[in-house]
Amino acid sequence: MLDFFQFFSPTRIVGGAPGLLGQLGPELEPFRRKKVGIVMDPVIEGLNLIDVLQPSLREAGMEVVATFADVPQDSDIPIVQRAATEFSKAGVEMLFAIGGGSVIDTAKAANIVLTHGGDLRDYQGAQILTHPLLPLVAVPTTVGTGSEVTMVSVVVDREDHRKLTFIDRTLAPTLAVLDPGVTYSLPTRLVATTAMDALTHALEAFIDLEHSPLSDAWAVAAANLIRQNLLPALAPSGFEEARANLQVASAMAGVAFNHSMVGIVHALAHSLGGVAGVPHGLANMLMLTEGLTSNLAVAADRIAEVGLRSEFISKQREHTPVIATAQDVIDELVRFRRQVTETADLPHSLRGAGVTENQLTFLVERASEDGSLVYNPRTVPPEEILQMYKNVMGE
Ligand SMILES: [Fe+2]
Repeated sequence: MLDFFQFFSPTRIVGGAPGLLGQLGPELEPFRRKKVGIVMDPVIEGLNLIDVLQPSLREAGMEVVATFADVPQDSDIPIVQRAATEFSKAGVEMLFAIGGGSVIDTAKAANIVLTHGGDLRDYQGAQILTHPLLPLVAVPTTVGTGSEVTMVSVVVDREDHRKLTFIDRTLAPTLAVLDPGVTYSLPTRLVATTAMDALTHALEAFIDLEHSPLSDAWAVAAANLIRQNLLPALAPSGFEEARANLQVASAMAGVAFNHSMVGIVHALAHSLGGVAGVPHGLANMLMLTEGLTSNLAVAADRIAEVGLRSEFISKQREHTPVIATAQDVIDELVRFRRQVTETADLPHSLRGAGVTENQLTFLVERASEDGSLVYNPRTVPPEEILQMYKNVMGE
């Protein structure tokens, strides 16, 4: 019997055409807003994507009245509050987020403060927003966040070394623009780590307690696209189509985990980000197979199924228990990750990513209380979390 499920994906997605960012007029006109506020980070600001966007804004009768380009790798509360204040002063009527997950999450969180006032911390949790938010157009420039289609925003509280989560159906962007052209200048390392984040979204969404036939379909399609396109997307040239496919896969994985959430791998990764500053995609990449292995005893059937359906393994060996097939999937993911790590010249271990032994206790504490564990197929005790970190610590 199927358990209860629901499916809700309100974000209009347009994509597939390089240069789309400059041809959005017909998509933007129906908003009938004039004053636009844009959120970016310093790297994206340097790429002059606002200039690329300008013809679209002009055609729709819009003008940029405020630009906030100070978003760091993991956005934090003061940044969000500052963005909201600047946008409020400028009378912004609509938001654009051009960047990776941190930029899009900053725009979502700033939208909460802009429309509800006060301190962002007061709005932590799920489904507590009471007023409509401003329309938000999300333009992802990495290939992993999925935030362009999710109702989730994650913001760091640096005083407390915690990642705060905001979940509300109204946080889902109104429009997601998947312009493949913006991924062409993305450094190889970022393509690799953000796509591995998307793969983690897909796999965790499939394995988590809240999965449904609908989230499964998006998760499998995303995992399959990432398997086929990640290595070609890291080539020195001729990567355009592969990167476009990763961009689509990232949005698909976003739709999947927006419904069934993420699990132990993300709990481990959020802690690595909050405590040790490890970039989110790299943290997931390093912890992915540890997390899957810890779920082997209770979710072997799901790990085997997602591996088979997304063709990480070709077929189940005859007369083999499902746990052996699931182990084959994990072994294949280890091989796949090794190729990605070597091709993109990434660290193989937590130590290589800058984590030190004396951070382990704090890492375990923060991972143990992470909200992602709620949806994981089993409860993972702190001593096991410590062991997982130690297994990846490296020499
Ligand atoms: Fe993620």
